[in-house]
Amino acid sequence: MTNKRESIHGQWSSRWAFILAATGAAVGLGNIWKFPYIMGQNGGGAFVVLYLACILLVATPIFIAEVMLGRRARRSPVQGMTVLAQEERASPAWKYLGWMGVIAGFLILSYYSVIMGWAMAYVERAMTGSFNGLDGAALQRMFESFKANPMELLFWHSLAMLITMLVVVRGVRAGLQAFTVLLMPALFVILLLLVGYGVSTGYFGAAFSYMFTPDFSKLTAHSVVVALGHSFFTLSIGMGLIMAYGSYMPEKVSIGQTALLVVAADTTVALLAGLAIYPVVFANGLEPSAGPGLVFQTLPIAFGHMPLGVLIGTLFFALLTLAAWTSSISMIEPAIAHVVEKRGWTRVKAGIWLGLGAWLLGIASVLSFNHWNEFKLFGKTFFELLDFATSNIMLPLGGLLIAIFATWIMRRESSFDELGMSERAYTLWRILTRYVAPLGIVVIFLYGLGILA
Ligand code: TRP
Repeated sequence: MTNKRESIHGQWSSRWAFILAATGAAVGLGNIWKFPYIMGQNGGGAFVVLYLACILLVATPIFIAEVMLGRRARRSPVQGMTVLAQEERASPAWKYLGWMGVIAGFLILSYYSVIMGWAMAYVERAMTGSFNGLDGAALQRMFESFKANPMELLFWHSLAMLITMLVVVRGVRAGLQAFTVLLMPALFVILLLLVGYGVSTGYFGAAFSYMFTPDFSKLTAHSVVVALGHSFFTLSIGMGLIMAYGSYMPEKVSIGQTALLVVAADTTVALLAGLAIYPVVFANGLEPSAGPGLVFQTLPIAFGHMPLGVLIGTLFFALLTLAAWTSSISMIEPAIAHVVEKRGWTRVKAGIWLGLGAWLLGIASVLSFNHWNEFKLFGKTFFELLDFATSNIMLPLGGLLIAIFATWIMRRESSFDELGMSERAYTLWRILTRYVAPLGIVVIFLYGLGILA
């Protein structure tokens, strides 16, 4: 009797811990900053449909596969892939999948910290009432002059990297992740308030039809690749992080249900962010294609005009910072775990060196918004190139390899046993992961290369 109670309690709390960690990593700048602006750059509704299709048919099955590999290996990604490859008599080269994740996470952190710094800088502006009464044009100028000032961007980038690494080295993740319990409802409430403000502008209908009336003639090969890449970025999959988190998951927990919960929370936040931002965009005659500054140029208009705008604006950017924080601490985890395991470094030493490296690389992203904004490769600035290479190439490639390993290399018994799903759910997952997702990724890649276009 006592035993049973204990085991039930243990399972519940660990399932909860995984959900908090994974949701904390998933919900971040990707949902609130990136999704609305890439939607605007890629034709609105058609992009949303494509993104949702990628989430359901490609990213969710791979999310489940990644958790499954992690729980089976019970190790960090590089070692984990080595062990699994041995167990399944596959090539030891699979460990390079782990390696690609280590590198991708490091690269993403370098620019993520820069944007997290923007959110922090806007907490200060919101708090001091800087948005009061400003219109779209004035807020655009405010953002442009902010972006043009490398020293200010550098200051906030440094602070963002510092608080990220403090959590990473001190291992107080549990404490920060506990915020996720408060963060999610608070974010929901603020976003709903902003959607409410959007309704009051009279442009909610316009925003809604912009987001949900697809015009597929607006899609380009590029936007298809971006939608796929974003479905990986927003769920934090394809680089071994979810594998690492999955390795702490207790045996009896249903991976499928847990994954669906995380995906649902993540997708809801992204759609709400779109529904909060676009009424303001249309009400003020702004450009949906404004780019990375979109959220910083639009929502402050609302804060500057609504009752309690100073409070709500401050809370919004503070929550955005917090959401970014629970994501940024996760990105570097595969890299940290790797040097700690492999080189025997302490967490502090690993944190200092990797953090310093990511900070240095982040300076190039800072400069790409001002001094270096003319330097372009393939028509992209350094920040854009890094974002493209990681989100749209490395993550989907990692995801493709995860899907292949989980369903073509690993024996059916192994994955069936580990997932513990009903026969029907398992079959659905297997078809999606074995055929649909890999085919989707390959076709979109080829299409993106212009081969099938
Ligand atoms: N998913 C996060 C967001 O939407 C970003 C993120 C956190 C991430 N960890 C990751 C992206 C690992 C890729 C890989 O903001």
